[in-house]
Amino acid sequence: MVKNKTIIAFETKSGVSKENAELIASVLNKKFGLEVDITNLKENKNPDITNYDNIIVGSGIRMDRWYRRPKSFLSKNNFSNKKLAIYLSSGKAGNPEFQHDQIVEDYIGKILKKRPHLKPIAYNAFGGCYMQGGKTIENFRDPEKVIQWAEQLGKLLLE
Ligand SMILES: Cc1cc2nc3c(=O)[nH]c(=O)nc-3n(C[C@H](O)[C@H](O)[C@H](O)COP(=O)(O)O)c2cc1C
Repeated sequence: MVKNKTIIAFETKSGVSKENAELIASVLNKKFGLEVDITNLKENKNPDITNYDNIIVGSGIRMDRWYRRPKSFLSKNNFSNKKLAIYLSSGKAGNPEFQHDQIVEDYIGKILKKRPHLKPIAYNAFGGCYMQGGKTIENFRDPEKVIQWAEQLGKLLLE
């Protein structure tokens, strides 16, 4: 098995989780020399993770809920002997009217408590954008925050 092979599996509806997957992959590859594959769970519902050391799962949030496929992917696999990381794209996570730590707890902490087999080495929620009819209504994206997180994650994946 190639050491430190990484897969990022995401689902997106407005495109931000895909953009974030690409940003994270770029940092892990260019800065840390990791081989990274990206897969869209809408096209590939339960990717085979046997040959991967590191699994990064990304979802958007709508109506305070994760998208269906990333949640099901987390439930179907136990990730033993693998490093797991999770990121979300959410309007509230980037909106200064909400407390970021509380959003992370509400959207990720609670999911993890219900699934004690999941022990991610890192997780975070990043600002998303609200789209309507193909137009951006509100944009809370902050690619710099995603890049910073990917840099911290890269160090953890090399440990
Ligand atoms: C119908 C709808 C409902 C949404 N509900 C929430 C929500 O409950 N909480 C939140 O933080 N963001 C919410 N958002 C914002 C999304 O999280 C944002 O669009 C994000 O970019 C979604 O990820 P994606 O771009 O990967 O699909 C909502 C957006 C839409 C269009």
